[in-house]
Amino acid sequence: MIDRWNKAGSSVADSRIMLYKRTQTCGELTAEHVGRDVVLNGWVDAWRDFGGLVFIDLRDRYGVTQVVFEPEAGAELQARARELRNEYVIGVKGTVAPRLPGKENPRLVTGAIEVRARELVVYNASPTPPFEMHGPEPNEELRLTYRYLDLRRPALQHVFIVRHRLAQLMRRMMTDMGFLEVETPILGRSTPEGARDFLVPSRVHAGHFYALPQSPQLYKQLLMVSGFDRYFQIARCFRDEDLRANRQPEFTQLDVEMSFVDDNDVTSTMEILVAEMAREFTGLELKLPLPRLDYHDVVERFGSDRPDLRYELELKDVADIAAQTEFKVFQQAKESGHRIRGLCAPGGGTKYSRKDLDGLTEYIGGMGAKGLVWLKVEADTMTGPTAKFFPAEAQQALRSRFGAKAGDLILIVADTQAVTSLALSSLRARLAAELELYDPKSFHYSWIVRFPLFAWDAEENRFVAEHHPFTMPLFEDLHLLDSEPAKVRAQAYDLVVNGEEAGGGTIRCHDPEIQSKIFSLLGLTPEQAQEKFGFLLGALRNGAPPHGGIALGFDRLVMLYSGLTNIRDCIAFPKTAKGTDLMTGAPGTVEARQLKELHVRPTSAT
Ligand code: AMO
Ligand code: AMP
Repeated sequence: MIDRWNKAGSSVADSRIMLYKRTQTCGELTAEHVGRDVVLNGWVDAWRDFGGLVFIDLRDRYGVTQVVFEPEAGAELQARARELRNEYVIGVKGTVAPRLPGKENPRLVTGAIEVRARELVVYNASPTPPFEMHGPEPNEELRLTYRYLDLRRPALQHVFIVRHRLAQLMRRMMTDMGFLEVETPILGRSTPEGARDFLVPSRVHAGHFYALPQSPQLYKQLLMVSGFDRYFQIARCFRDEDLRANRQPEFTQLDVEMSFVDDNDVTSTMEILVAEMAREFTGLELKLPLPRLDYHDVVERFGSDRPDLRYELELKDVADIAAQTEFKVFQQAKESGHRIRGLCAPGGGTKYSRKDLDGLTEYIGGMGAKGLVWLKVEADTMTGPTAKFFPAEAQQALRSRFGAKAGDLILIVADTQAVTSLALSSLRARLAAELELYDPKSFHYSWIVRFPLFAWDAEENRFVAEHHPFTMPLFEDLHLLDSEPAKVRAQAYDLVVNGEEAGGGTIRCHDPEIQSKIFSLLGLTPEQAQEKFGFLLGALRNGAPPHGGIALGFDRLVMLYSGLTNIRDCIAFPKTAKGTDLMTGAPGTVEARQLKELHVRPTSAT
C-alpha cells in the first residue's frame, strides 16, 4: 500500500483509497523527535499561506501539530497544500524539525516542533463547516444538527474524556468494594418512578406493550432476593417527562443495591466512591462522613430539598415581625394561613437598581408569587416602596433576625409554603450567583435524609410516593401509617452536590405486609397491586433479605466535573428540550406496514 502511494501520489483515484498509516498522533511530537521521519493523520484545523511557505495545523483527538510545506518539497506538493481547507482530512509524511527561534508555542505539547512535509494524501475534502472548532460557542440548533462536527470540538471531546474516566473509576471502585455488575432488561415491565413510560408495542402479543425502564429498580430488588448481595450497573434509564437543563429522556445512572444494610450503610459506602471522584476530578480531599441534613430542616432553612450549600443565605420566618406592620398584604397572608418568609442578600442593596428589583419581582411572579417586598438596608433606616409600613421596631427586628447591615437587601414573600419555598430558593440561587457569594469552582456535598414517605398530589387528590412505592418508612414512624400517613418519614437519602440532585435512594420494604399497606395508601387496590407488581410481592414472600440502594445521576456528575450547566453537553447524541434528535430526525414516522404488524392504528401524523 505504502509503496503504491509513494509512487502514485498525484492520482486522485489512487489517493482516495490510500491509507497512510500514522506513526504518531498530533499530540505527541516534541523536541526529542527532531530529525525523525513521521506520518500524521488528522483534520486541517487552520491553514496559512505565506506565499513561500504553506502552514497547516493538523488536529486529532490528542492535539495539534504544525505542518509546513516548504518550496524545497516541490511546487506540485505546495500547490496541493494550498488547496487544503479547514476540516479536510489528510495524511502527511515528513520530518520533525525545530520551529524557528521565537516561533515556538509553549501552550502546545507540540509547540517546539513542526513537521516538514514531503508527501500529502487527502482522504476527504469538507465544505466550510457551519461553525468554528475553536471559536465562540455555536448556536445549539446548529451544533445538534451537525453533532458529528460539534463533537470534533476539543472543548466537547474533553467532556467525553471525563465521562469515560468517571465510568472507569466507578467500575474499579465498585468492584473493589465487592459489587457485581449485572445487566437488566431494557424491554421490560413498567416501573413506577413517577414519570411517564416509553412504550414498545409487542408484535407477537397484540395490544401488549413493553416499557423501557425508568430505572432498574425492581430488577435490582429481585437480584437481592436472589442473593447477589451487592449489585451495580451503569444503567440506561428512560423517562418521558418535561425536559430541563439537567434532564434528558434517556440518561445514565450508577445503579446500586445492597443486602442486609441500613440507610447509613448505603450512604457510608457511597461516600467512599464520592470521595474518590472528588479526589480524581477536583483534587479535593473530602472530609467524611459528609453532612447528613434532615429534609424538613433543610426545606425550612433553604426552601429546597437540594440546596446549594456553597453559600449560606438562609431563609427566615418573619411572620411575627410582619404582624407588627399595617401592611395589608401581610394581614391577608395571616388570614389565609400563609407563610411570610424572607432572606437577606449581603451587598444586594447597593448592587440592585429599582429596575433590577422589578426584574426579580417578575422572575418569581413566574413561579406563582404575587409580589416581592424589598427593603434596602441603610445605615439607620430602610428604603423601598413598602418601607413606610415597617415601623422602627419592626425594622430593628428585621435587622437582627437577618444580621443585616448597611448595603444589604431584605426580600420578603408572603404565600403558601410551596410558593414561598420555590420563590425564595430560586432568589437565593440567583442572588448568590449575581452577588458572587461563592467560588463557582468550589464543591459542596451533603446527604439530605428522612424525606417524607408520601407527597400529596392536589390534582389527583391522593398520596403519591415521594421517592418510589418500594421505600421503607422510618421504624419510629411505622405506627403513623394508619393514623397520619402524611407525617411518615422514609428511610430515604439524596446526595446533593452544589444544589444539584446527584443521586437518591432508599431502604426498601422487604416486608410484604408493609409493602401492601403502602400500595393501598397510594390508592392501589390489592388486585391492582397484584396485577402490576405481583412478581415483586411474590418475591418478597420468598425469602427477601432486608435491602436498600441508591442511583447516582451519571450524566449530572459528568456535568458537575466538567464545569458545565447543560446536560446535553455531557451526552454524545442528546435530545433537544422537545425530545427530538435534530441530526437523525428521531422520532420519525414509520411505514404503515410496520404499524400493522405491531397492531397499532395509524394516526393522521403517520
Ligand atoms: P431517582 O429517580 O432519584 O432514583 O434517580 C436517581 C438519579 O438519577 C438522576 N436523574 C436524571 N438525570 C438526568 N435526566 C433525568 N431525566 C434524570 N432523572 C433522574 C438524578 C437522580 O438523583 N430507582 C431509584 C434509585 C433507588 O432508589 O435506588 C431512582 O431512579 O441525579
Ligand atoms: P399591591 O398591594 O399588590 O400593589 O402590592 C404592594 C407591594 O407589595 C408590591 O411591592 C408587591 O410586590 C408587594 N406584594 C404584593 N403581594 C405580595 C406577597 N404575596 N408577598 C410579598 N410581597 C407582595
